[in-house]
Amino acid sequence: MTVASPASLYSDLDVSAETNAPLAAHTWFGIGGHADLLIRPNTIAALETLARRCRRDEIPLRVLGSGANLLVDDEGVDGVVVKLDTPAFRAIEWNDQGRVERMRAFGGAQFEPLIHECSRRGLSGVEQMAGIPSSVGGAIRMNAGGKFGSVGDAVDAVALIGLDGALRVYTRDELSFEYRRTNLPPGIVVWASFRMREDDPVQCRQRVVEYFRYKRSTQPMSASSAGCMFRNPLLADGRRESAGRLIDLAGLKGTEVGGAFVSKEHGNFLAVNPGASTDDLRRLVELVQDRVRSAHGVELETEVVFWRRGEPAWAVSHG
Ligand code: EPU
Repeated sequence: MTVASPASLYSDLDVSAETNAPLAAHTWFGIGGHADLLIRPNTIAALETLARRCRRDEIPLRVLGSGANLLVDDEGVDGVVVKLDTPAFRAIEWNDQGRVERMRAFGGAQFEPLIHECSRRGLSGVEQMAGIPSSVGGAIRMNAGGKFGSVGDAVDAVALIGLDGALRVYTRDELSFEYRRTNLPPGIVVWASFRMREDDPVQCRQRVVEYFRYKRSTQPMSASSAGCMFRNPLLADGRRESAGRLIDLAGLKGTEVGGAFVSKEHGNFLAVNPGASTDDLRRLVELVQDRVRSAHGVELETEVVFWRRGEPAWAVSHG
Protein backbone atom coordinates (compact mmCIF):
# COMPACT_ATOMS: atom_id res chain seq x y z
CA MET A 1 0.00 0.00 0.00
CA THR A 2 1.47 3.30 -1.06
CA VAL A 3 -0.65 6.08 0.42
CA ALA A 4 0.68 9.00 2.45
CA SER A 5 -1.75 8.32 5.26
CA PRO A 6 -4.55 5.74 5.46
CA ALA A 7 -6.82 8.49 6.82
CA SER A 8 -6.65 10.23 3.43
CA LEU A 9 -8.62 7.26 2.10
CA TYR A 10 -11.69 7.99 4.18
CA SER A 11 -11.45 11.23 6.22
CA ASP A 12 -13.75 13.18 3.85
CA LEU A 13 -16.25 10.31 3.46
CA ASP A 14 -19.42 9.46 5.36
CA VAL A 15 -17.94 6.44 7.13
CA SER A 16 -16.74 5.42 10.55
CA ALA A 17 -13.25 3.96 10.82
CA GLU A 18 -11.31 1.98 13.38
CA THR A 19 -7.60 1.24 13.16
CA ASN A 20 -6.11 -2.01 14.48
CA ALA A 21 -9.60 -3.45 14.89
CA PRO A 22 -9.95 -6.96 16.39
CA LEU A 23 -11.79 -9.26 13.99
CA ALA A 24 -12.20 -12.42 16.11
CA ALA A 25 -15.56 -11.34 17.52
CA HIS A 26 -16.81 -10.74 13.96
CA THR A 27 -16.26 -14.38 12.99
CA TRP A 28 -18.01 -17.59 13.94
CA PHE A 29 -14.71 -19.25 14.78
CA GLY A 30 -14.01 -16.38 17.17
CA ILE A 31 -10.27 -16.49 16.44
CA GLY A 32 -7.74 -14.57 14.33
CA GLY A 33 -5.96 -11.22 14.43
CA HIS A 34 -6.73 -7.58 13.73
CA ALA A 35 -7.64 -5.53 10.67
CA ASP A 36 -5.27 -2.64 10.06
CA LEU A 37 -8.33 -0.61 9.13
CA LEU A 38 -12.03 -1.46 9.57
CA ILE A 39 -14.40 0.88 7.77
CA ARG A 40 -18.19 1.09 8.02
CA PRO A 41 -19.66 3.17 5.20
CA ASN A 42 -22.95 4.97 5.81
CA THR A 43 -23.83 5.48 2.16
CA ILE A 44 -23.40 3.72 -1.17
CA ALA A 45 -21.62 6.82 -2.52
CA ALA A 46 -19.04 6.63 0.29
CA LEU A 47 -18.47 2.93 -0.44
CA GLU A 48 -18.02 3.60 -4.17
CA THR A 49 -15.45 6.31 -3.51
CA LEU A 50 -13.60 4.18 -0.98
CA ALA A 51 -13.52 1.26 -3.43
CA ARG A 52 -12.15 3.50 -6.21
CA ARG A 53 -9.42 4.87 -3.95
CA CYS A 54 -8.39 1.40 -2.82
CA ARG A 55 -8.08 0.32 -6.43
CA ARG A 56 -6.14 3.45 -7.38
CA ASP A 57 -3.65 2.97 -4.51
CA GLU A 58 -3.54 -0.85 -4.81
CA ILE A 59 -4.78 -1.30 -1.28
CA PRO A 60 -6.36 -4.68 -0.51
CA LEU A 61 -10.07 -4.38 0.17
CA ARG A 62 -12.00 -7.17 1.83
CA VAL A 63 -15.64 -7.30 2.76
CA LEU A 64 -16.66 -8.72 6.10
CA GLY A 65 -20.07 -10.35 5.91
CA SER A 66 -21.50 -12.23 8.86
CA GLY A 67 -18.12 -13.96 9.40
CA ALA A 68 -19.84 -17.32 9.19
CA ASN A 69 -17.51 -18.69 6.56
CA LEU A 70 -14.31 -16.86 7.37
CA LEU A 71 -10.97 -17.68 8.94
CA VAL A 72 -8.70 -14.73 9.75
CA ASP A 73 -4.97 -15.34 10.09
CA ASP A 74 -3.44 -14.93 13.56
CA GLU A 75 -1.37 -12.03 12.14
CA GLY A 76 -4.52 -10.24 10.98
CA VAL A 77 -5.06 -8.56 7.61
CA ASP A 78 -3.70 -5.51 5.85
CA GLY A 79 -5.45 -2.87 3.78
CA VAL A 80 -9.09 -2.10 4.34
CA VAL A 81 -11.81 -4.35 5.73
CA VAL A 82 -15.30 -3.07 5.03
CA LYS A 83 -18.22 -3.99 7.26
CA LEU A 84 -21.67 -3.30 5.83
CA ASP A 85 -23.64 -3.17 9.06
CA THR A 86 -24.87 0.42 8.98
CA PRO A 87 -28.63 0.99 8.38
CA ALA A 88 -28.16 1.83 4.69
CA PHE A 89 -26.64 -1.60 4.05
CA ARG A 90 -29.02 -3.64 6.18
CA ALA A 91 -32.23 -2.37 4.65
CA ILE A 92 -34.92 -4.69 3.29
CA GLU A 93 -37.61 -3.43 0.92
CA TRP A 94 -40.70 -4.99 -0.62
CA ASN A 95 -42.54 -3.76 -3.68
CA ASP A 96 -45.39 -2.05 -1.91
CA GLN A 97 -48.02 -1.87 -4.64
CA GLY A 98 -50.14 -4.79 -5.77
CA ARG A 99 -49.04 -8.36 -5.07
CA VAL A 100 -45.63 -8.63 -3.49
CA GLU A 101 -43.34 -10.18 -6.09
CA ARG A 102 -39.95 -8.76 -5.25
CA MET A 103 -37.87 -8.22 -2.17
CA ARG A 104 -34.70 -6.15 -2.21
CA ALA A 105 -32.18 -6.76 0.55
CA PHE A 106 -28.91 -4.87 0.98
CA GLY A 107 -25.59 -6.69 1.25
CA GLY A 108 -25.22 -6.40 5.01
CA ALA A 109 -28.73 -7.67 5.85
CA GLN A 110 -28.70 -10.99 7.70
CA PHE A 111 -30.72 -13.89 6.31
CA GLU A 112 -32.07 -15.13 9.61
CA PRO A 113 -34.26 -12.12 10.54
CA LEU A 114 -35.08 -11.65 6.88
CA ILE A 115 -36.48 -15.19 6.60
CA HIS A 116 -38.63 -14.70 9.70
CA GLU A 117 -39.99 -11.42 8.36
CA CYS A 118 -40.85 -13.08 5.03
CA SER A 119 -42.71 -15.89 6.84
CA ARG A 120 -44.60 -13.35 8.95
CA ARG A 121 -45.70 -11.54 5.79
CA GLY A 122 -46.61 -14.82 4.06
CA LEU A 123 -43.88 -14.52 1.42
CA SER A 124 -42.16 -17.59 0.06
CA GLY A 125 -38.83 -17.65 -1.82
CA VAL A 126 -35.89 -17.76 0.56
CA GLU A 127 -36.87 -20.43 3.12
CA GLN A 128 -34.05 -22.64 1.77
CA MET A 129 -31.67 -20.35 3.65
CA ALA A 130 -33.14 -21.29 7.05
CA GLY A 131 -30.37 -22.21 9.48
CA ILE A 132 -27.59 -20.98 7.17
CA PRO A 133 -25.96 -18.04 8.94
CA SER A 134 -25.08 -15.46 6.31
CA SER A 135 -25.30 -11.90 5.17
CA VAL A 136 -27.01 -11.33 1.83
CA GLY A 137 -23.70 -10.35 0.18
CA GLY A 138 -21.81 -13.33 1.56
CA ALA A 139 -24.54 -15.77 0.55
CA ILE A 140 -24.68 -14.44 -3.02
CA ARG A 141 -20.89 -14.51 -3.43
CA MET A 142 -20.72 -18.25 -2.71
CA ASN A 143 -24.25 -19.23 -3.67
CA ALA A 144 -24.79 -20.50 -0.13
CA GLY A 145 -27.33 -23.23 0.37
CA GLY A 146 -27.99 -26.76 1.48
CA LYS A 147 -30.35 -29.66 1.05
CA PHE A 148 -33.38 -27.47 0.36
CA GLY A 149 -31.87 -25.19 -2.26
CA SER A 150 -29.46 -22.32 -2.71
CA VAL A 151 -29.77 -18.58 -2.53
CA GLY A 152 -29.30 -18.31 -6.30
CA ASP A 153 -32.64 -20.11 -6.86
CA ALA A 154 -34.47 -16.95 -5.83
CA VAL A 155 -32.17 -14.19 -7.10
CA ASP A 156 -33.64 -11.76 -9.59
CA ALA A 157 -30.85 -9.16 -9.81
CA VAL A 158 -27.64 -8.18 -8.03
CA ALA A 159 -26.10 -4.69 -7.71
CA LEU A 160 -22.34 -4.83 -7.48
CA ILE A 161 -19.59 -2.26 -7.03
CA GLY A 162 -17.05 -3.61 -9.48
CA LEU A 163 -13.30 -3.21 -9.93
CA ASP A 164 -13.76 0.28 -11.41
CA GLY A 165 -15.65 1.42 -8.30
CA ALA A 166 -18.90 1.86 -10.24
CA LEU A 167 -22.23 0.31 -9.30
CA ARG A 168 -23.72 -2.02 -11.91
CA VAL A 169 -26.88 -4.10 -11.81
CA TYR A 170 -26.66 -7.69 -13.10
CA THR A 171 -29.97 -9.18 -14.12
CA ARG A 172 -31.03 -12.78 -13.72
CA ASP A 173 -30.30 -13.66 -17.34
CA GLU A 174 -26.68 -12.50 -16.96
CA LEU A 175 -26.13 -14.51 -13.79
CA SER A 176 -25.47 -18.17 -13.28
CA PHE A 177 -25.45 -19.97 -9.98
CA GLU A 178 -23.93 -23.40 -9.54
CA TYR A 179 -22.89 -25.47 -6.55
CA ARG A 180 -21.32 -22.81 -4.25
CA ARG A 181 -20.30 -20.67 -7.22
CA THR A 182 -21.58 -17.75 -9.25
CA ASN A 183 -20.27 -15.96 -12.33
CA LEU A 184 -20.68 -12.60 -10.57
CA PRO A 185 -17.43 -10.65 -11.17
CA PRO A 186 -15.22 -9.58 -8.24
CA GLY A 187 -16.72 -6.75 -6.27
CA ILE A 188 -18.94 -5.74 -3.41
CA VAL A 189 -22.56 -6.85 -3.38
CA VAL A 190 -24.58 -3.74 -2.55
CA TRP A 191 -28.01 -5.30 -2.85
CA ALA A 192 -29.83 -8.26 -4.33
CA SER A 193 -33.45 -8.58 -5.32
CA PHE A 194 -35.36 -11.83 -4.94
CA ARG A 195 -38.48 -13.23 -6.59
CA MET A 196 -41.13 -13.84 -3.95
CA ARG A 197 -44.48 -15.62 -4.00
CA GLU A 198 -47.38 -14.90 -1.67
CA ASP A 199 -48.23 -17.93 0.46
CA ASP A 200 -49.92 -18.90 3.70
CA PRO A 201 -47.79 -17.52 6.59
CA VAL A 202 -48.39 -20.72 8.60
CA GLN A 203 -47.03 -22.88 5.77
CA CYS A 204 -44.04 -20.58 5.27
CA ARG A 205 -43.27 -20.82 8.95
CA GLN A 206 -43.66 -24.62 8.93
CA ARG A 207 -41.14 -24.95 6.12
CA VAL A 208 -38.62 -22.77 7.96
CA VAL A 209 -39.03 -24.82 11.15
CA GLU A 210 -38.72 -28.11 9.23
CA TYR A 211 -35.53 -27.00 7.44
CA PHE A 212 -34.02 -25.73 10.65
CA ARG A 213 -34.85 -28.98 12.48
CA TYR A 214 -33.20 -31.03 9.76
CA LYS A 215 -30.03 -29.00 10.13
CA ARG A 216 -30.04 -29.31 13.89
CA SER A 217 -30.52 -33.08 13.71
CA THR A 218 -27.56 -33.66 11.38
CA GLN A 219 -25.05 -30.96 12.32
CA PRO A 220 -23.36 -29.59 15.44
CA MET A 221 -24.99 -26.21 15.99
CA SER A 222 -23.22 -25.15 19.18
CA ALA A 223 -19.48 -25.62 18.51
CA SER A 224 -17.41 -22.63 17.27
CA SER A 225 -17.19 -23.50 13.60
CA ALA A 226 -17.95 -22.05 10.21
CA GLY A 227 -20.29 -24.82 9.16
CA CYS A 228 -18.73 -27.00 6.49
CA MET A 229 -15.00 -26.44 6.04
CA PHE A 230 -14.66 -28.11 2.61
CA ARG A 231 -16.65 -28.03 -0.60
CA ASN A 232 -18.20 -31.35 -1.53
CA PRO A 233 -15.83 -32.71 -4.21
CA LEU A 234 -16.88 -33.76 -7.68
CA LEU A 235 -15.90 -37.39 -8.27
CA ALA A 236 -14.62 -38.85 -11.55
CA ASP A 237 -18.09 -40.28 -12.26
CA GLY A 238 -19.63 -36.79 -12.06
CA ARG A 239 -21.22 -37.29 -8.64
CA ARG A 240 -20.73 -34.75 -5.87
CA GLU A 241 -19.75 -36.62 -2.71
CA SER A 242 -20.20 -35.41 0.86
CA ALA A 243 -16.80 -34.24 2.11
CA GLY A 244 -18.08 -34.99 5.62
CA ARG A 245 -18.70 -38.61 4.66
CA LEU A 246 -15.20 -38.97 3.15
CA ILE A 247 -13.63 -37.48 6.29
CA ASP A 248 -15.74 -39.79 8.44
CA LEU A 249 -14.75 -42.87 6.37
CA ALA A 250 -11.09 -41.88 6.73
CA GLY A 251 -11.57 -42.20 10.49
CA LEU A 252 -10.89 -38.54 11.20
CA LYS A 253 -13.86 -37.59 13.38
CA GLY A 254 -12.62 -36.31 16.73
CA THR A 255 -9.05 -35.69 15.42
CA GLU A 256 -7.41 -32.75 17.22
CA VAL A 257 -4.59 -30.33 16.40
CA GLY A 258 -3.95 -27.91 19.26
CA GLY A 259 -7.31 -26.37 20.07
CA ALA A 260 -8.91 -27.34 16.74
CA PHE A 261 -10.86 -30.54 16.21
CA VAL A 262 -13.02 -32.45 13.73
CA SER A 263 -16.59 -32.71 15.01
CA LYS A 264 -17.75 -36.13 16.16
CA GLU A 265 -21.19 -35.39 14.72
CA HIS A 266 -20.34 -34.33 11.16
CA GLY A 267 -16.93 -34.82 9.57
CA ASN A 268 -17.01 -31.59 7.55
CA PHE A 269 -17.40 -29.44 10.66
CA LEU A 270 -14.01 -28.35 11.96
CA ALA A 271 -14.36 -26.42 15.20
CA VAL A 272 -12.22 -24.76 17.84
CA ASN A 273 -12.00 -24.75 21.62
CA PRO A 274 -11.42 -21.51 23.52
CA GLY A 275 -7.77 -20.46 23.20
CA ALA A 276 -7.27 -22.13 19.80
CA SER A 277 -5.31 -20.29 17.13
CA THR A 278 -5.91 -19.97 13.41
CA ASP A 279 -2.66 -21.85 12.93
CA ASP A 280 -4.11 -24.86 14.83
CA LEU A 281 -7.04 -24.89 12.47
CA ARG A 282 -4.89 -24.44 9.38
CA ARG A 283 -2.75 -27.42 10.40
CA LEU A 284 -5.89 -29.49 11.01
CA VAL A 285 -7.20 -28.56 7.55
CA GLU A 286 -3.94 -29.74 5.97
CA LEU A 287 -3.95 -32.96 7.97
CA VAL A 288 -7.53 -33.72 6.87
CA GLN A 289 -6.67 -32.93 3.22
CA ASP A 290 -3.61 -35.23 3.36
CA ARG A 291 -5.48 -38.10 4.97
CA VAL A 292 -8.49 -37.88 2.63
CA ARG A 293 -6.11 -37.79 -0.35
CA SER A 294 -4.39 -40.96 0.92
CA ALA A 295 -7.62 -42.76 1.82
CA HIS A 296 -9.80 -41.83 -1.15
CA GLY A 297 -7.53 -40.18 -3.75
CA VAL A 298 -9.73 -37.09 -3.54
CA GLU A 299 -8.57 -33.48 -3.22
CA LEU A 300 -10.62 -31.44 -0.74
CA GLU A 301 -10.91 -27.73 -1.44
CA THR A 302 -11.85 -25.34 1.36
CA GLU A 303 -15.22 -23.65 1.26
CA VAL A 304 -14.22 -21.41 4.17
CA VAL A 305 -12.40 -18.26 3.07
CA PHE A 306 -8.92 -17.58 4.53
CA TRP A 307 -7.76 -14.01 5.00
CA ARG A 308 -4.01 -13.44 5.22
CA ARG A 309 -1.76 -10.42 5.23
CA GLY A 310 0.09 -9.63 2.00
CA GLU A 311 -2.27 -11.38 -0.40
CA PRO A 312 -3.39 -9.37 -3.40
CA ALA A 313 -7.02 -8.85 -2.56
CA TRP A 314 -9.70 -6.65 -3.95
CA ALA A 315 -13.16 -7.34 -2.70
CA VAL A 316 -12.35 -10.99 -3.02
CA SER A 317 -14.90 -12.14 -0.59
CA HIS A 318 -17.68 -11.37 1.75
CA GLY A 319 -16.37 -13.64 4.44
N1 EPU B 1 -22.29 -38.37 6.40
C1 EPU B 1 -21.55 -39.30 7.08
N2 EPU B 1 -20.65 -38.86 8.01
C2 EPU B 1 -20.46 -37.52 8.26
C3 EPU B 1 -21.23 -36.57 7.54
C4 EPU B 1 -22.15 -37.03 6.61
O1 EPU B 1 -21.68 -40.50 6.88
O2 EPU B 1 -19.63 -37.18 9.11
C5 EPU B 1 -23.29 -38.86 5.43
C6 EPU B 1 -24.71 -38.58 5.91
O3 EPU B 1 -25.17 -39.57 6.75
C7 EPU B 1 -25.48 -38.48 4.62
C8 EPU B 1 -24.44 -37.92 3.62
O4 EPU B 1 -23.15 -38.16 4.20
O5 EPU B 1 -25.83 -39.77 4.17
C9 EPU B 1 -24.64 -36.43 3.36
O6 EPU B 1 -24.57 -35.70 4.58
P1 EPU B 1 -25.32 -34.29 4.79
O7 EPU B 1 -26.78 -34.43 4.53
O8 EPU B 1 -24.90 -33.76 6.10
O9 EPU B 1 -24.79 -33.41 3.60
P2 EPU B 1 -23.34 -32.93 3.22
O10 EPU B 1 -23.18 -33.17 1.75
O11 EPU B 1 -22.28 -33.47 4.12
C10 EPU B 1 -24.14 -30.55 2.53
C11 EPU B 1 -23.66 -29.15 2.71
C12 EPU B 1 -24.09 -28.58 4.05
C13 EPU B 1 -25.59 -28.68 4.17
C14 EPU B 1 -25.98 -30.15 4.04
C15 EPU B 1 -27.45 -30.44 4.17
C16 EPU B 1 -21.53 -28.81 1.58
C17 EPU B 1 -20.05 -28.70 1.72
N3 EPU B 1 -22.21 -29.11 2.67
O12 EPU B 1 -23.43 -31.36 3.46
O13 EPU B 1 -23.71 -27.20 4.07
O14 EPU B 1 -26.04 -28.14 5.39
O15 EPU B 1 -25.54 -30.62 2.74
O16 EPU B 1 -28.17 -29.72 3.28
O17 EPU B 1 -22.06 -28.58 0.50
C18 EPU B 1 -22.13 -25.55 4.71
O18 EPU B 1 -22.08 -25.26 3.52
O19 EPU B 1 -21.52 -24.91 5.60
C19 EPU B 1 -22.90 -26.72 5.07
C20 EPU B 1 -22.84 -27.23 6.27
